[in-house]
Amino acid sequence: MRLTLIRPDDMHLHLRDGSALPDLVPPLAHRFARGLIMPNLAAPVTTVAAAAAYRRRILAAVPRGRDFEPLMTLYLTPATPAEEIDRAREDGHIHAVKLYPAGATTHSQHGVRRIEAIYPVLERMIAAGLVLSIHAELPDPAIDPYEREARFIDTTLAPLVERYPELRIVLEHVSTREGIEFVTGASPRIGATITAHHLLCSRRNLFAGGLSPHYFCRPLLQSEATRQALVAAATGESPRFFLGSDSAPHPRRLKECARAAAGIYTGYGALELYAEAFAAANALDRLEDFASRRGAAFYGLPLNTATVSLEQTEWTVPDEYPFAGETVVPFRAAESLHFELVP
Ligand code: NCD
Ligand code: ZN
Repeated sequence: MRLTLIRPDDMHLHLRDGSALPDLVPPLAHRFARGLIMPNLAAPVTTVAAAAAYRRRILAAVPRGRDFEPLMTLYLTPATPAEEIDRAREDGHIHAVKLYPAGATTHSQHGVRRIEAIYPVLERMIAAGLVLSIHAELPDPAIDPYEREARFIDTTLAPLVERYPELRIVLEHVSTREGIEFVTGASPRIGATITAHHLLCSRRNLFAGGLSPHYFCRPLLQSEATRQALVAAATGESPRFFLGSDSAPHPRRLKECARAAAGIYTGYGALELYAEAFAAANALDRLEDFASRRGAAFYGLPLNTATVSLEQTEWTVPDEYPFAGETVVPFRAAESLHFELVP
């Protein structure tokens, strides 16, 4: 069986930088027409000038003959001047500004501690029509790690939406029922990305056969019932849930150790993984909506024109992929996948 869809967009992913780009960009550009590039580099992408330079480095790694558009984001810090938002609007390549609560995830230490500090920037974003992309977890160490998304919604996101109803917001990598319910009940200005790993896995996978850091990501994988609720949202009618892989590679060395880094590498085959999740839910006919239409519509981008095809056939994921002179262990390493990209 062959499945053909309009070329999809990945509305949340990590490409890292430098010598990682030639490893990470080609598989992405092969599958997706556009990707929303997260700005949490070691030196975060906080200015339009830095985003433009990063964009050029990404484009230099796109294989010849492939058409791929990096949609850039800015990393919001308490020191981001409102004028940077004006520059972002004029630049035209910046599509979202990313809010990392300080301490919530990889390279988030430059993020925001007090939401009030960024009100002037948010007001300018409304005027500029820029999307606020949020890592929606409360990083307070006193809070149970499985409750950080729900607590962030209560304490921060719901009041923020009430204060700024015109602001377009994406609750990134939604992972809980509270998150799904919040988005479903909110205005059309509020959307959410869903990762392939949150559709395919629950926290059971973290512990199956011994503790596996390769299933450790933020936000955490939740219960099996929650996984099913996420599948229902992704395959359902709401136009506000769309594809964002959160592909987030770390070298094997930083995963297979004490204090393993959070992040799962799905970018080598993200579309195939989503197809697998949709096929398991008997909803392959909804994949094009989720992957190719809704994200573009939310961001006000034109629909892509070309198509991609997947073949339903079995292949084995390698044990590792090259990654910036080291290796990364991919999601589902050494296991079978049931869809393959038609070259
Ligand atoms: C991401 C990373 O490694 O950059 N990690 C993750 O677990 N998802 C950061 C993020 O999106 O939280
Ligand atoms: Zn991410």
